Amino acid sequence: MTGIIFTIAQQKGGAGKTTVAAHLAVAWSRRGERSVAILDIDPQGSLGEWLEMRERRLGEDATGLTFRTASSWGARREAQRLARDHDVVLIDTPANAERDARPAMEVADLLIVPVQPTPLDLWATRPTLEMAARERLAALLVLNRVPARARLTESVLDAMRELNADIAEARLGNRVAFAESVGDGGTVFDKARHKAAAEEVRALAREIMDRAGAAARAETRVQKGISSSKSPPPPPPPPPGASAGAGAS
Ligand SMILES: Nc1ncnc2c1ncn2[C@@H]1O[C@H](COP(=O)(O)OP(=O)(O)OP(=O)(O)O)[C@@H](O)[C@H]1O
Ligand SMILES: [Mg+2]
Repeated sequence: MTGIIFTIAQQKGGAGKTTVAAHLAVAWSRRGERSVAILDIDPQGSLGEWLEMRERRLGEDATGLTFRTASSWGARREAQRLARDHDVVLIDTPANAERDARPAMEVADLLIVPVQPTPLDLWATRPTLEMAARERLAALLVLNRVPARARLTESVLDAMRELNADIAEARLGNRVAFAESVGDGGTVFDKARHKAAAEEVRALAREIMDRAGAAARAETRVQKGISSSKSPPPPPPPPPGASAGAGAS
């Protein structure tokens, strides 16, 4: 077996990396659908704390998840090892970790980048996308903490377009349910009243798997020489105003 490796990274702290990691892990492993391993390379250890609480709640062997930690440089080796006997490996990375996240990106099949829908957060995402482009790694932006009923403002949409990256259709709302459940070793799947949040996670989990499947098929086509169209994703353009001086008279 060679499982799919997803790395969750975003230089900006607090974007929702760990929350998204915990939820995707549970979404994919529910009812034994897939074997899922989570690998935490963040020394902060939040994902491990979440899992420990989960084990206390459900029983040590009842989470259905494999958990490992690794140093940033050990991530590649550990992820490859886990991918040998799991369908999915999910790597949670620390914020502000350009150098430290690199091995986790090198080994990934898809980079998942949670981002809050504000221009500042989107612009702060640029270094992460640039790293992915350097690694020729496909990246998917996932909008997280999207305010209820708010239509995305023009400035947010502009900032998104400037990033020149794939954006998941599924979004996670700004819901207390996410914060509350993770703080308790749970997920939004646990309580009936968190149904809307649970549906958002299910949609995201489905969409990511569909994309991973499509990417794997494209890769096979390239390997078989059917298509030579795979090119690295283009690097995101410079921040607004960064090049203003160059051509200005
Ligand atoms: N969709 C959401 N709705 C409401 N709160 C959220 C949501 N996603 C994350 N949060 C909250 O935002 C905070 C940051 O989330 P989280 O720890 O997952 O981010 P992170 O990117 O892993 O942070 P770090 O960079 O420190 O590792 C937490 O308090 C979490 O409960
Ligand atoms: Mg985190």
